[in-house]
Amino acid sequence: MENMRKKVNILSKWFFINLGVLLFALWKISTGHVGIHILFGAFGLFFFLYNWTRHAVFSTIRSNISRKRKIKYANLSKKVLPIHKYTGSAALIFIIVHASLVLSLFGFELTNFKLLSGLLAGITLLLLVITGWIRWLKTTYTIRVIHLSLGFTLFALVLLHIIF
Ligand code: HEM
Ligand code: HEM
Repeated sequence: MENMRKKVNILSKWFFINLGVLLFALWKISTGHVGIHILFGAFGLFFFLYNWTRHAVFSTIRSNISRKRKIKYANLSKKVLPIHKYTGSAALIFIIVHASLVLSLFGFELTNFKLLSGLLAGITLLLLVITGWIRWLKTTYTIRVIHLSLGFTLFALVLLHIIF
């Protein structure tokens, strides 16, 4: 049991949570009508989840694992950092196309829950990408906390958006 718990700790539960969201979204999309607007939403989601998994890597590094492993993960994390800014910005571009297609298909109807949760998610993603670029140019503790909190908020909003 103790061993098992350690293994889960090593991988960080966030890897499993993110994988769960990805599988749920794939299932949801494959059981519905797949329009081009949905495809753009799905691409946006994949790029968001890819970037969000950085949080899982960071949690793993901070957890109770050997120093050797920490260094290994930290180096891996450094190696993929240069594409983090492009994948994050790409997510925003896909979602802008997703939203434009959705709005031209359905119009602007504020009683539509899917549209509302989508709009909130879209605004959060925009702020997340802006704080990401600020963090890239000049990092401070406050901007680091804001970038991470927006990531958490978007994770929750995206869940709402794809479930309901
Ligand atoms: C981070 C932002 C977003 C992500 C990751 C995302 C992702 C998705 C995904 C994967 C779907 C298909 C899910 C399903 O079939 O239930 C979907 C559907 C939808 N999204 Fe988004 N979306 C985002 C932002 C937005 C925005 C900004 C809007 C509003 C303009 C929006 C409006 C909608 C609507 C109305 C649907 C339902 C479409 C239909 O049933 O044909 N989404 N979204
Ligand atoms: C989908 C959008 C994005 C998500 C979900 C996201 C998520 C994250 C997460 C979870 C971290 C680790 C936070 C921590 O524990 O401190 C991080 C770090 C960071 N992000 Fe983003 N991010 C996104 C977009 C961007 C963009 C567009 C940039 C632009 C340059 C950016 C720049 C950074 C930088 C510089 C770091 C610090 C990396 C490090 O210290 O290793 N992010 N991001």
